[in-house]
Amino acid sequence: MIATNAYAAFDPKSPLAPYQFERREPRPGDVVIEILYCGVCHSDLHQVRNEWGDALYPMVPGHEIVGKVVRTGTDVKKFKPGDMAAVGVMIDSCRTCNNCQNHLEQYCEDGMTGTYNTLERDGITLAQGGYATTIVTDELFVYKLSDKLDPAGAAPLLCAGITTYSPLRYAGVGPGMRVAVVGLGGLGHMGLKFAHAFGAEVALISSSPGKEADAKRLGAHHFVLSTDNAQMKKFRTYFDVVLNTVSANHDYHSYLDLLGLNGRMLVVGLPAEDPRVSPFDLLKNRRSITGSMIGGTQETQAMLDFCAEKNITADVEVIPIQQINEAYERMLRNDVRYRFVIDMTSLRQ
Ligand SMILES: NC(=O)c1ccc[n+]([C@@H]2O[C@H](COP(=O)([O-])OP(=O)(O)OC[C@H]3O[C@@H](n4cnc5c(N)ncnc54)[C@H](OP(=O)(O)O)[C@@H]3O)[C@@H](O)[C@H]2O)c1
Ligand SMILES: [Zn+2]
Ligand SMILES: [Zn+2]
Repeated sequence: MIATNAYAAFDPKSPLAPYQFERREPRPGDVVIEILYCGVCHSDLHQVRNEWGDALYPMVPGHEIVGKVVRTGTDVKKFKPGDMAAVGVMIDSCRTCNNCQNHLEQYCEDGMTGTYNTLERDGITLAQGGYATTIVTDELFVYKLSDKLDPAGAAPLLCAGITTYSPLRYAGVGPGMRVAVVGLGGLGHMGLKFAHAFGAEVALISSSPGKEADAKRLGAHHFVLSTDNAQMKKFRTYFDVVLNTVSANHDYHSYLDLLGLNGRMLVVGLPAEDPRVSPFDLLKNRRSITGSMIGGTQETQAMLDFCAEKNITADVEVIPIQQINEAYERMLRNDVRYRFVIDMTSLRQ
């Protein structure tokens, strides 16, 4: 067994605190990774505080994991010790259903296995995430990371990156399309970078007046303050696609209103309370709402390769693990510029 230092949540209310546990000895297909950086996703906070009602404690959060391979199982082909590697939001799936066969493991008919806050496929072992010194994962769910990318900036690609890349690709976003990204947080700032890189006309819709300059710097052609009715009205029916990354409880109405004919709202934000949707907003302009969950193994690797080619990483604020509870409070105040990433050497000292 591999002794591992981590930070864990023990109940929905207490701050995260140091925790020690053991990772399994590598199986033939496993890769042992020494974690260098782990991004802080709003899903970590939702789950730590049991906002989705499915929390299992003790919970080591973290699913934006970047590190160095230190050991491999006997059957591992993609990796050797010393390679940079990454793990995202899932670590397993049934591997035999239609969706798994088509590399859409996130939609596994038997349910994908998340990186933490779930039981592994043996039905007994509690999966533990990346706020830790080490992770042991089957190579199918481990990705190659180019040495060209800054490893701290690359960590958020594993969730915020793929979660926005996949629906934008699915919606065929490219030149000639108008895209509105709602929310300038971890997901939103990656959505903005990708929509821009794909050649679309992009607007950032924000509830924070102070984010305009950053939105423009990150590639937005327009900045729209969602609390200002006049600004929102100006863009009514203007967009082909709205990418909704909002983490807090909200109403879809004002964002659906931004969509023109056959416009589509791509939903990735997962607030604790179900948003209200009026059919009247959908009838108008034949609008639709499409959900999207992270991305499959092939698409995740393709996204990482695209980012290496275009030199795309997240804008990050690197913190030691000891500041994680404060980082959660700042995330709740929309004060993230634009992803916290934990430097895991702070756990090794
Ligand atoms: N579908 C998936 O597979 C998937 C994957 C990862 C995460 N998620 C979910 O996606 C959501 C976003 O995650 P994240 O890590 O990007 O969170 P985040 O960094 O906290 O960003 C969320 C942003 O939402 C905006 N916002 C907050 N409260 C709002 C309100 N009341 N009205 C309007 N906008 C508001 C803020 O942007 P402004 O300040 O610009 O308004 C905020 O920065 C979370 O619910 C998370 O669980 C889903
Ligand atoms: Zn996430
Ligand atoms: Zn499956």
